[in-house]
Amino acid sequence: MDVIEELEHRRNQARAGGGERRIQSQHSKGKLTARERISALLDPGSFEEYDMFVQHRCTDFGMDETRFSGDGVVTGWGTINGRVVYVFAKDFTVFGGSLSEAHAEKIIKIQDMALRNRAPVIGLFDAGGARIQEGVAALAGYGEVFARNVRASGVIPQISVIMGPCAGGDVYSPAMTDFIFMVRDTSYMFVTGPDVVKTVTNETVTAEELGGARVHTTKSSIADKAFDNDIEALLEVRRLIDFLPASNTDALPEIACTDDVLGQDDSLDTIVPANPNQPYDMREIVLKTLDDGDFYELQGSFAQNIITGFGRIEGAPVGIVANQPMVLAGVLDSDASRKAARFVRFCDCFNIPLVTFVDVPGFLPGTSQEYGGLIKHGAKLLYAFAEATVPKITVITRKSYGGAYVVMSSKHIGGDITYAWPSAEIAVMGSKGAAEILYRHELGDPEKVAGRIADYEERFANPFVAAERGFIDDVILPHSTRRRVARGLRLLKSKTVDIPCKKHDNIPL
Ligand code: HXC
Repeated sequence: MDVIEELEHRRNQARAGGGERRIQSQHSKGKLTARERISALLDPGSFEEYDMFVQHRCTDFGMDETRFSGDGVVTGWGTINGRVVYVFAKDFTVFGGSLSEAHAEKIIKIQDMALRNRAPVIGLFDAGGARIQEGVAALAGYGEVFARNVRASGVIPQISVIMGPCAGGDVYSPAMTDFIFMVRDTSYMFVTGPDVVKTVTNETVTAEELGGARVHTTKSSIADKAFDNDIEALLEVRRLIDFLPASNTDALPEIACTDDVLGQDDSLDTIVPANPNQPYDMREIVLKTLDDGDFYELQGSFAQNIITGFGRIEGAPVGIVANQPMVLAGVLDSDASRKAARFVRFCDCFNIPLVTFVDVPGFLPGTSQEYGGLIKHGAKLLYAFAEATVPKITVITRKSYGGAYVVMSSKHIGGDITYAWPSAEIAVMGSKGAAEILYRHELGDPEKVAGRIADYEERFANPFVAAERGFIDDVILPHSTRRRVARGLRLLKSKTVDIPCKKHDNIPL
């Protein structure tokens, strides 16, 4: 065989992965193979594969007789809409995508190149954790991968897509990346699977109940989004990449904006109901502020009392944080605080300006919240907004009470521009609660109490007390929100902040 033929033969061998039978089994479960996934993710013809001839070096348990070129992971780089990304995709058809020493070295090479050359890393996971036959060599490989996840954190975006059963090390690496997507019904994430759970805790649980996409997008908040199939998940990764800079020192990816910012949407003038206890959909305000109503929501099924996600204004990416009065009246609880804090920190790492919409009655009272660490979780959001040095614009649409007023990107913790709608109410608490505390001795007299509530309302249920002190910069008409936010963002493009020298901060984890 001449060398060209041998090359082609070896390439075909590598492309065959774990063989036809295992590829068919993969397809029969509704899953694509690693290579099929990569070609759906990247621009056509852009993938350049590395290390396709790498094999494991294990000789225990008869492994010297079972070697596959590529060793269970396909690695390389390509482009998404013309922008470079590095990729590794676990090949479940080879030893269940499990990680050997050689397999780890392939991933590490990609991580190192991505960090050196400043481009995102996307990992497609479908794997059974550490290669059992390799023992500690596999564990060492995971350690090396984890260390690089941490080193790259905040420098280049890291995205994980869970597309099969993932256990052990194959959940900890994704957990340290910026975003996790899952595929419904075919993907699972757990540290230990149902069998081990049964042995240790005597709990009977299915893989889906333990770590399916529903659990991780609604209960644990481990995953940011879930999709019905591999293709949908991969196309959404492409959309996400379009919002992100290649690194923390690269410019934001701007696109031409065809949606006029001078146009006004009069429907916003009537969106806030006259009755302060009646909800309205904050998402509508978000959509009407962004270019073309295009909003890329994250964690949309978890802590729905706060909305987080990306959009564009005048073609440039922005991060949106917004209380949602439709769910729990938009209250801040532990879950909402954690969710928004992580999002704010991501935006700050990658220089994405923050636009915050506020309608918040305060923090959620109660033992379950306090025992669950509301103080620390709420502090995370406070901390995240306060430390963020990106441009920060805040729009208060209605309630902004108590600690939550301060936390939600207020002027006092570094908000750059704060607008309030005429319907804004900025106070220590709602009028009823305030009157009942201040005039407790009058509680037996409903007429008197009603008068006290009305007094408090008249004094504080408006934006002007805060405006008189300069705590908000302007009271704006709702229909002008998009224009005012766009102008503010233009102004803040040259924002610079000096922060004192420190090794790193100590956010209340
Ligand atoms: C070697 C493995 C493997 C592993 C699966 N395979 N996991 N080989 N090491 N960890 C192989 C199987 O032998 C099989 O080979 C093929 O992959 C497909 O596996 P199946 O079991 O047939 O598939 P399925 O029924 O779909 O089940 C998938 C699975 C299960 C849920 C992932 O295989 C499983 O539970 N694997 C073990 C998971 C685990 O406990 N891993 C260690 C975690 S500890 P053939 O030749 O038949 O195709 C860990 C430590 C790191 O990761 C921690 C760092 C902090």
